[in-house]
Amino acid sequence: MSSGTTRKRPIKAVDNMFHDRMTVGIEKIRARIKGSVKDFTEEHRPPPKKVRTAKEIFGGAETPTDKEGNQIMIRVRNLSKIYGKHPGEALRLLEGGLSKEEVQERTPNNVGLYDVSFDVMRGEIFVLMGLSGSGKSTLERCMNRLVEPTSGQVLIDGLDFTALGEEDLRIARREKMSMVFQNFGLLPHRDVKNNVAYGLEMQGVPESKRLEKSREAIELVGLSGYEDSMPSDLSGGMKQRVGLARALATDPDILFMDEAFSALDPLIRSDMQDELIRIQSKLGKTVVFVTHDLDEALKMGDRIALMKDGRIVQVGRAEEILQDPADEYVDRFVREVDRTKILTAGLFMRKPRRVLYVTQGPRTALKLMDSSDRNDMLVINRDNRLLGMVESDDVLRAVQSGDKDLSKVVIKEIPAVGPDTPMKEVIQIMVTTDFPIPVVDGDGVFLGVVSPSVAADTMGPGGEE
Ligand SMILES: Nc1ncnc2c1ncn2[C@@H]1O[C@H](COP(=O)(O)OP(=O)(O)OP(=O)(O)O)[C@@H](O)[C@H]1O
Ligand SMILES: [Mg+2]
Repeated sequence: MSSGTTRKRPIKAVDNMFHDRMTVGIEKIRARIKGSVKDFTEEHRPPPKKVRTAKEIFGGAETPTDKEGNQIMIRVRNLSKIYGKHPGEALRLLEGGLSKEEVQERTPNNVGLYDVSFDVMRGEIFVLMGLSGSGKSTLERCMNRLVEPTSGQVLIDGLDFTALGEEDLRIARREKMSMVFQNFGLLPHRDVKNNVAYGLEMQGVPESKRLEKSREAIELVGLSGYEDSMPSDLSGGMKQRVGLARALATDPDILFMDEAFSALDPLIRSDMQDELIRIQSKLGKTVVFVTHDLDEALKMGDRIALMKDGRIVQVGRAEEILQDPADEYVDRFVREVDRTKILTAGLFMRKPRRVLYVTQGPRTALKLMDSSDRNDMLVINRDNRLLGMVESDDVLRAVQSGDKDLSKVVIKEIPAVGPDTPMKEVIQIMVTTDFPIPVVDGDGVFLGVVSPSVAADTMGPGGEE
């Protein structure tokens, strides 16, 4: 203890001496330079680097549209990726019609991707699906240039992403897109809120602002209350919610997700799928979602691209792929899955042309039923929760007796199913009633109906096999 205090003094003295010498030294240098130190450094400072904003980078680009005028968020044209040195020979052989396997036998290269073209629309969940090694990750990573494509073009919101220099690429990527990884990629020494704020920190957003945005994103993924927790205290599902919140915090247009839910337990995985669908429909993000799981692809994808050997063999909606497989490979892929499990109500439901709000009253209800030529109609409340259905006879009686309240004639005991209910069960219910079967989520929110005509197509030729 006492030796500690006695040692301190001489160090302090040396410190002061050192400081004095340094100051004297600087004064001498100063004297040597004509003019002040400030002038000297100003004169010798390299010219400031021009850093462009994402707005400037994307400014000149015009978003392409399809025939119906829908915006194309990502346009991929003739994209190829050959791994290994001197990819030219491999590309030439592929152009000459050789298969991936043949090319890999004849050259030292690996074929990651060859001649891939497709469009991803703004606000859709676009699934890349295929067996291991088919090129899903390569394709996704070529789209955001975490992997540099060998040839071809990627347009992001109309901008030629493949032509961007390194600096612009970094800025554009940071502002426009986020990634969610299978292994979460959380920083172990940061708590949840600071993990979520990470991307904003990279963008130079001030602390108070980024914590505010972080909190919003945490709430969005249902993790409120865990802001101060450390990643090691969280379960796998919660970690992935943090991963998702972090990706959303910067408010990107595009989310790239590579097998993001594949490591989770089945039930938690299903929860996360529902969560992503909910968030996506709320925020309208464009999502490129990689999975090797057909079940997941059919549930998540607005459209699905099936990959094989570095190529896309079919792009389409779930039903198109299930019912009209483009080739034998897709057919086999689809046939291997349990159809009765895969074919769910959610896949086949449609929005009905008309539903009634309970606030509309009997007179309006009758008019709407008349004009759409129906004797029955589903009734929902303002929160879109399904209340039941009404029949025209009951509604007519209510009108005649001057009753203004539609809820009195609503039949509440009607069969409803969830989006995950297998079609097999839906059809069993359908034979007991003449009406389309309503589909509701876990909160009773009305999603759509499965009509008898659609159900009849479900099982395809040969019935339910
Ligand atoms: N860094 C690399 N170097 C060499 N070859 C690679 C590299 N990364 C991928 N490949 C090859 O490219 C092809 C496509 O691989 P990719 O990882 O894109 O497939 P994937 O569909 O994502 O597979 P998985 O489901 O296993 O993740 C494979 O043949 C793979 O061996
Ligand atoms: Mg992969």
